Amino acid sequence: MKPPIKVAITGAAGQLAYSLSFRVASGEVFGADQPLHLTLLEIAPAMGALEGVVLELDDCAYPLVRSIQATDQATAAFDGINWGLLVGSKPRTKGMERGDLLAANGKIFVEQGKALERAADDLRILVVGNPANTNCLIALSNAGSVPTDRFAAMMRLDQNRGMAQLAGKAGKPVSSVTNMAIWGNHSATQFPDFFNAKIGGTPAPEVIQDPAWLETAFISTVQKRGAAIIEARGSSSAASAASAAIDHVISMRSATPAGDWFSAAVLSDGSYDVPQGIVSSFPLRSDGEKWEIVQGLTHNAFAREKIDASVKELLDEREAVKDSLPD
Ligand code: NAD
Ligand code: LMR
Repeated sequence: MKPPIKVAITGAAGQLAYSLSFRVASGEVFGADQPLHLTLLEIAPAMGALEGVVLELDDCAYPLVRSIQATDQATAAFDGINWGLLVGSKPRTKGMERGDLLAANGKIFVEQGKALERAADDLRILVVGNPANTNCLIALSNAGSVPTDRFAAMMRLDQNRGMAQLAGKAGKPVSSVTNMAIWGNHSATQFPDFFNAKIGGTPAPEVIQDPAWLETAFISTVQKRGAAIIEARGSSSAASAASAAIDHVISMRSATPAGDWFSAAVLSDGSYDVPQGIVSSFPLRSDGEKWEIVQGLTHNAFAREKIDASVKELLDEREAVKDSLPD
């Protein structure tokens, strides 16, 4: 057994965390040989419901769980953590765009960013709460000395949605879909890059010889999937989002298979002419500890226009939250 790590999950009484926490505690995310201390953060009015979650986690008798701490104080929740899964925030409801949540949720990430200065030196953060990209920008901008490359916002649900759509259309197993890059914002402007995706090692547009479907229905299905789930279910995606969070952490902690990549939103370094200072989705590779942006992909005019539109939205979001970003 390895020495225990400390993992914080925020919004721990919410619906997404109700799926995520149990899968983290089971060992599915960090490994069957990785004991963990779990800290669960909520707001004060939800502490009663969180107590119920703790009772259930206890009742699972997960062998890897060394302790469970429930708190409504971010500084206590993040003390010494190695990983933080920042889910806690308000979800959108029917008719809203995720960006409409900026005013309500942005301030959460100012406070939590500051509290992350108490984390362990090897801290890694995944921001899930929406609007995830700009919340992530707020958190990393307020986290003082924590290196910015420790932060990512979740795009894995979009990647998984894109892979599932391509596999379904091609009549191939989803495991045959690789190289699914999502560019831009976790929003209805994102660009799921079918040009660079592969199915069974062959470029997706050669397998799916239906450019009209790829350029319209495919893109819009992925862009609007979150809204379709809210419309159908009455509340936002939870189990699929938890699953994507798990995939993200595993991808960050593993060596990426040769030739492949995964998608996550990170602070732009200017790659692909995405301006520095926004948290935008890129194709990444990891060596299990550090990630890098995959270089050298090409975009035609269609793809470039889509990426630029999503980047513009991220720049507008940054402008809207500028008061939450220290100089
Ligand atoms: P939910 O309302 O069921 O749960 C959210 C929980 O967060 C609530 O229990 C609430 O009390 C808690 N919370 C609010 N402020 C908090 C704070 N300051 N600290 C700690 N906890 C706090 O919502 P949900 O369905 O679990 O979704 C959570 C968030 O995840 C939403 O913003 C949703 O839009 C987002 N989401 C993102 C993705 C993605 O792909 N990035 C996917 C699905 C959901
Ligand atoms: C999703 O993509 O399902 C989540 O971001 C929830 C939402 O608001 O769409």
